[in-house]
Amino acid sequence: MSGLPTAATPDRAMKTILKLAAFLPLLSTTACAREGRRQATPHRVENGMVVSQELRASKAGLAILRKGGNAVDAAIATAFALAVTHPAAGNIGGGGFMVVMLADGTSTTFDFRERAPAASRPDMFLDKDGKYDSARHHFSHLAVGVPGSVAGLQLAHQRLGKLPWRELVEPAVRLAARGFKVSPGLAADLAGRLKGFSRYPATLAQFSSEGEAYQAGDVLEQRELAETLERIRDRGAAGFYQGKTAELLVAEMRRGGGLISLEDLRNYRAVERKPVRGTFRGYDIISMPPPSSGGVALVEMLNLLEHNGIDKTSFRSPQEVHLLTEAMRRAYADRALHLADTDFVPVPVEKLTSKKYARSLSATIHPRKASRSSPTTFTWPVKGSETTHLSVVDSRRMSVALTTTLEYSYGSRIVVPGAGFLLNNEMGDFNPRAGLTTEKGLIGTKPNLAAPGKRMLSSMSPTIVAKAGEPVLVVGSPGGRTIINTVLGIIINHLVHGLPIQDAVDSPRLHHQWLPDKLLVEAGAITPATRLALEKMGHTVEQRGGSQGSAMAISVGEDGKLEAGCDRRRPDSAAAGY
Ligand code: GLY
Repeated sequence: MSGLPTAATPDRAMKTILKLAAFLPLLSTTACAREGRRQATPHRVENGMVVSQELRASKAGLAILRKGGNAVDAAIATAFALAVTHPAAGNIGGGGFMVVMLADGTSTTFDFRERAPAASRPDMFLDKDGKYDSARHHFSHLAVGVPGSVAGLQLAHQRLGKLPWRELVEPAVRLAARGFKVSPGLAADLAGRLKGFSRYPATLAQFSSEGEAYQAGDVLEQRELAETLERIRDRGAAGFYQGKTAELLVAEMRRGGGLISLEDLRNYRAVERKPVRGTFRGYDIISMPPPSSGGVALVEMLNLLEHNGIDKTSFRSPQEVHLLTEAMRRAYADRALHLADTDFVPVPVEKLTSKKYARSLSATIHPRKASRSSPTTFTWPVKGSETTHLSVVDSRRMSVALTTTLEYSYGSRIVVPGAGFLLNNEMGDFNPRAGLTTEKGLIGTKPNLAAPGKRMLSSMSPTIVAKAGEPVLVVGSPGGRTIINTVLGIIINHLVHGLPIQDAVDSPRLHHQWLPDKLLVEAGAITPATRLALEKMGHTVEQRGGSQGSAMAISVGEDGKLEAGCDRRRPDSAAAGY
């Protein structure tokens, strides 16, 4: 078995930061359940493991592994269960990406990103006076893209699944029909959203008890969702894209002024794509190609960090954080300039992910001075949402990294009346308007403008790190544009600094996205001395209010055992293994 080299001896900064992290509010939920029990020690198992945002969903996947299903089967069962038990992001009305490494060491990906309806136009988010209207872009029926999740899960099953489809959807049907006990975390989340939900009667009816907030321990039944899932169980993707489900969805579009037609639904296709690949210090990086920006940006950053000697820096030293920030800044600028749906625009994937490009870009990184980000230039003078991720590894070491999304928490907040599922607001991931690139981070570059049938650019970065054809790390996270940096940080923490996977996940996070030109840090991510040193280099450093992402990772140790790194930043995350 391949695995990590011996962990580096933790230095003082690392010990301080990890000790601090354990007490920080961002980890205060401390929920990382293992088959129902809270657990403080690392969860290590021999055979198979599922790590997701919710315990019953992880257990649904584990039951499939125990039955002889493979990692793809388990990921599908977990994803459908999340559509019931983690409504903020688990979904059938959204989309996502799956990266798979097979037991023979080969790999592939499935793209089931939402698509723009045929009636979409680049200027569809402008009001009648031609001004950008953020509500149209993010909170309206126009914000809904043609969902991809059901088609994508079916395609992955047809290509690589082992157990019958019905058996994978059935656990979700049961959870929706019989109901499940609302956790304290879900109760608190739903209670805070009732006012927003009240705009859509079907949403309020589904996620409240006759208008009152659910309490922890109440049973949440979703009968209409159960019926939709039954149609999917019995007819596969046709049970979603055709017939009653499709008709209900299109009726809601007509009611609210949305664009999705029966034809858009019938025409939706998921696509199998070649992964984006890179190497980092002897490891293979296998990640998602466009329409995700995740894989390209991740490989570009890892190349830059490798070339600039990240391995010679110590954990969270000014030098390490400076290098990380400069790599993030450049990769996010390239993301804005180039990345989009390759079915519509050419994207220089080869170039951006090449070592040669990293070498030339490295010449623009000053070792002790911050560069400047500007909305009008992408060159570097030397001077200077809601989404959820699940990871699965099975007994033959087939591995799956699956990130799926509704865009914002509870997506558009629109439940399809009669069908019981939430619609995404993924059209918000298209750029708002040509030319509208601002210091605040709105991006107006052309490649990612809306067009009929186009997939909106994503940051989802489901990633597998491998060595000699064996998985070493399976990882991904929600968090909009922060996703790529969350994944990068965990890879660096684990592979460079030798942190065990739970520590690598717990460790407070960093994020720079080109614009706005500031380094956002979670509480406790860097020491005051490091912050001062970074500010002297010219960096603007700001502590973010909340937390960044919710990563679900599995590492494979040198002894071949699987270890869970499940994020405690949000309640209910859970590892299940055997
Ligand atoms: N909706 C988040 C993303 O795709 O990046």
